[in-house]
Amino acid sequence: MSAQTTDIDEYSQVHLNVFGTPLRVLDHGEGCYVWDVDGNKYLDFLAGIAVNSIGYAHPRWVEAVSKQAAQIAHTSNYFATEPQIHLAEKLIEHAGAPEGSKVYFCNSGAEANEAALKLARLHGRTLQGALPSIGGKPARILALTNGFHGRTLGALSATWKPDIRKPFDPLVPAIEFVEAGSIDAMRAAFAQTGIGKYGKGPVAAVIMELIQGEAGVLPFDADYVAAVRKMCTDNGAFMMIDEVQTGVGRTGSWFAFQRDDLTHGIVPDAVSFAKGVAGGFPMGGLIVFGAKNSALFTPGSHGSTFAGNPLGASAALATLGVMEEENLVTNAETRGNQLRSALESCGNEIFGMVRGRGLLNAVTLKRPCAHAIVDWALNHGLIVNAVRPDVIRLAPPLVVSESEIKEAVSILAQVPADLPLD
Ligand SMILES: Cc1ncc(COP(=O)(O)O)c(C=O)c1O
Repeated sequence: MSAQTTDIDEYSQVHLNVFGTPLRVLDHGEGCYVWDVDGNKYLDFLAGIAVNSIGYAHPRWVEAVSKQAAQIAHTSNYFATEPQIHLAEKLIEHAGAPEGSKVYFCNSGAEANEAALKLARLHGRTLQGALPSIGGKPARILALTNGFHGRTLGALSATWKPDIRKPFDPLVPAIEFVEAGSIDAMRAAFAQTGIGKYGKGPVAAVIMELIQGEAGVLPFDADYVAAVRKMCTDNGAFMMIDEVQTGVGRTGSWFAFQRDDLTHGIVPDAVSFAKGVAGGFPMGGLIVFGAKNSALFTPGSHGSTFAGNPLGASAALATLGVMEEENLVTNAETRGNQLRSALESCGNEIFGMVRGRGLLNAVTLKRPCAHAIVDWALNHGLIVNAVRPDVIRLAPPLVVSESEIKEAVSILAQVPADLPLD
């Protein structure tokens, strides 16, 4: 029996079954490749779900984390450390956020969105007609159908998929869903604000992704995004962009909101990030744009023991440093273009549409056999992800090379047409 089989049995005995049975037991990685405990090698086109942006075991990252671990791994937030200061400065700079913008650090994407939702609540209380104590109605947060923002109760309240949301009802109130991509639906949701018996509270914020990753890598039309921005501005609502999956270089710009073809150049009020920022160390955060918005949080209004932990901050600084030195944002754009056009011309008849930006991509399937493709690809040395039964997601490390893209596509080109359906 392989080491893998024994390990997976043991895993199942001691882990809550929220992730299903692991596909393999991984042992180590280098660059874009990982090896399992039986010594099998895989080209990783999932990268820990868009996390391992600089690949596995990058020497600069390993050195920075080891050095920081030996120096000081954690302090409470009664103290500051230099890595967290430099990291916040760098993220504000890369986001092009205006003077007075500030960052809150946390440990995951869901937590980053919790901070965003709390920011929206604080902002909502400043809006006219929003204070129930003086006869107002609670300000609302608008989220989009198909959106995904995380599994904690607040983030889940803004997450669309009923299968994962409904079992945890009742969730956080005054978060409403609006049909994604419809300017009319968004306009109608804003128009529900009003006085009298039937009017609702004002809109505190819209929270949305620019490419709905978990829904199958669905980019929005830039006209739609710009229209939502305008409605937010006209109505005093925040536009909060969830860049947990799209941020930090993944889509071929530092942040997806900077891509003209996704937003026509909007400026958000807040941007959440996580996943790729620290190259595999659990870290996330929220960039709040501008001094006025940033001043909403005051001492005691939010926090977390590990927020801005120096080990995570130094992992993130090393990640951003590698991205700058190795031009990985540009690489994401170039290799993404290569990947999409290679998939489009690879000749596999079960593939439908290819979509995405930079290195966050998906290929739709003419038959819903995505899970069988994942297994088949694994057996042929490639890791891909079934984001939906009829959609395969491809999100390799941003260090991926031209030849690695060719290798992945040559494997995908051979996926047989008669795999079992999901
Ligand atoms: C857009 C988006 N927001 C939030 C999250 C939640 O992040 P985490 O799993 O780190 O809590 C995810 C995770 O996939 C995501 O894609």
